[in-house]
Amino acid sequence: MCGLTTALRLKRQIPSVDLQVVGEKIASRTAASDPTTSEGAAGLWKPFALSGTPDELVNRWGKETLDHYMDIYLSGMAPEAGILLSSAYELFEEPLDELPAWADVVPAFRRLTPADISFYDPSGRHVDGYSYDTIIAEGRLYLGWICRELEGLGVTIVERKVSRVDEIEAGRVIVDCCGLGSRELFQDPELFGIRGHVLRVKAPWVRHHVESHGVDATRPAYIIPNTDTVVLGGTKERSEDRTSTAEERQEIFDRCKAIVPSLEAAELVGHWVGLRPGREGIRLEMDEVDGRVVVHNVGHGGSGLTLAWGCAGDVVELLKPLLV
Ligand code: BEZ
Repeated sequence: MCGLTTALRLKRQIPSVDLQVVGEKIASRTAASDPTTSEGAAGLWKPFALSGTPDELVNRWGKETLDHYMDIYLSGMAPEAGILLSSAYELFEEPLDELPAWADVVPAFRRLTPADISFYDPSGRHVDGYSYDTIIAEGRLYLGWICRELEGLGVTIVERKVSRVDEIEAGRVIVDCCGLGSRELFQDPELFGIRGHVLRVKAPWVRHHVESHGVDATRPAYIIPNTDTVVLGGTKERSEDRTSTAEERQEIFDRCKAIVPSLEAAELVGHWVGLRPGREGIRLEMDEVDGRVVVHNVGHGGSGLTLAWGCAGDVVELLKPLLV
């Protein structure tokens, strides 16, 4: 997500730049059974599984990114780019001490009343909550759209594993959007995987996002509609185990069914475990490796698609003095 997005913003803002995207697995070119992290994710705009990055930066990057998706939603490219507009309801089992720092970034944010909570929560377990409107940028469609935009602008996209920086022959400047891969390629020991296990079901009657926050923060229950399927999740634990067990799938399904019981009638069509690129603080900075300029743009946790366009803007600003 961050790599292709950065490439698109860079090429649009500095059309003279000669740009190549290189990656072991490029979204939209992989088999449907083996999606990249961005393609497997449900695509909901909201800061998630992110820590150590100042709220002020998250809000600035997040707002620019949300506005970018909204422009696409309004432009008529929405269906091919996989951009949906959805209402979101977040329910909590404990009273909230504070509202999220990004409350002012999204439209229609409001605290739910007790009557709202009992309307949206058949389990009766929740005591607090809020709602807002947000965008869902469906990874597989959205990244396919970006690839087409890039190729239309003359950017080449090469699927190739790079194990060492000196294997990148061409290029004065390298932008590192390698996610967890930056740990080996650029020796960033601060990156770690945050395991996310999701199911996909056919449930066309479910058209809004609901998330239940219980006492265990590593086990949120969320329901996120995509165009043809609905994503049920999830897990949010520091682990790099990509095993999906039947027991955990059942547990995720049961947690989601507790907040939307009609999911009982949904057909299960897939399951997937991905690793979010966690880091105590996003790394967006200029560096030098073997005499070459490198701009790092990594460590977005579960917020890659939420912050990608805004972060790409900062990468462009860092590179302008060198490329314009
Ligand atoms: C996730 O990474 O699982 C996620 C991200 C944003 C919203 C909900 C879930």
